[in-house]
Amino acid sequence: MDTILEKINNLKQKHNAVILAHNYQTGDIQDIADFAGDSLGLSIQASKTDADVIVFCGVLFMAETAAILSPDKIVLLPDKYAGCPMADMITAAELRKLKQKHPDALVVCYVNSSAEVKAESDYCCTSANAVEVVNSLPKDKKIIFVPDKNLGQYTAQKTSRDLILWPGYCPSHVVISEKDIKKAKEEHPDAIVMAHPECPQSVKAVSDQLLSTGQMLKFAKTSSIRKFIIATETGIIHTLKKENPDAEFIPATQKALCPNMKKITMEKILWALEDLENSSGEQSSYRITVPDDIREKAKKSLDRMIEILPEN
Ligand code: 13P
Ligand code: SF4
Repeated sequence: MDTILEKINNLKQKHNAVILAHNYQTGDIQDIADFAGDSLGLSIQASKTDADVIVFCGVLFMAETAAILSPDKIVLLPDKYAGCPMADMITAAELRKLKQKHPDALVVCYVNSSAEVKAESDYCCTSANAVEVVNSLPKDKKIIFVPDKNLGQYTAQKTSRDLILWPGYCPSHVVISEKDIKKAKEEHPDAIVMAHPECPQSVKAVSDQLLSTGQMLKFAKTSSIRKFIIATETGIIHTLKKENPDAEFIPATQKALCPNMKKITMEKILWALEDLENSSGEQSSYRITVPDDIREKAKKSLDRMIEILPEN
C-alpha cells in the first residue's frame, strides 16, 4: 500500500504538477514542496514554472496571484477556505472610495490582497520589496498603501515618505507584543531579534532585523550569530532549524500562528491531486481562477512588483 507521499508523488508526475509552499506551512509540507519560500519567491516561481498544474500550499490570495500570473495553468488550493483575514480587510469598493478622496495618488497594494483590489492598484509589493517599490515612485506623487498599516508604517519610515495608510493588519502578527520581545531578550541576551514588518510598531522598535520570511532564512544562513528570537508565524522555525542545525531559534511567542495557513494538510494535497482524475483539472472544485477583466488589470500591478527585486 502506497504512503500518502508516494501517492502525491505519483499524481504529481502523472499530471506534471508542482507543489509551492509558503514558509508558514507545517514542516511536512515545506519538506515535500518543490519550492518553499516567501510571497515574492512564490510569485516568481508561479510566473516561470513549466508545470501544467500548481498545487499552492498557502492562502487564497497566493493561489489567486499564481492564477493571475499563469492563466494557462491549473492552480489548485487544497483548502478553499484558507483565506487571509488581512486581505479581507479592504474591498475593491472601499479602495475606489479612497482613490476618489485622493485622485492624484498612486496605489501600492500589499500582495496580501484580493485580485479585485490588485486590479484597482498601480503597483503590488511584498514585505521583501515594499521599500524598493515605493522608492521607485516619483517623489512628488502621493501614495496610498493598502491594506497593512504595519507594513505601510515600516515602508513610510524606511523611505521617509508620507503614505496614506489603510487600517488593516495581520491577526497572527499583532499578537506578538513588545513585552514578549523584552522577556525573550532578557532570557537570551546573546540572541538577536528577527521580526516581520507585519508586527506592530512597538515590536519593530525593539527588534534588530526587520525582514520578510525569505530574508530571515537568508540572514540566518549568512550571519555569524547563532541564536535568534523569531517574531513572525512560528511555521518558519522548521526550515530555519533544518537549514541551520548549529543555531538556536526561539519563538517570540507560541501564539503567533496563522490558522488559515495551517488549514492545508498532506491529505488535502492528495485529495486535490486526486480530483484531477475526475475533473481533468478544468472543473476541479479545488481550482482557483480569476475573471479575465480583473486578471488583466491585476497582472499589471503584479508584473511591476516582480520587476522590482529587493536589495537584500
Ligand atoms: P512573506 O513570506 O512574504 O514575508 O509574507 C508573510 C505573510 O504574512 C504571508 O501571508
Ligand atoms: Fe494573512 Fe497574517 Fe496569515 Fe499571512 S500570516 S496569511 S497576513 S493572516
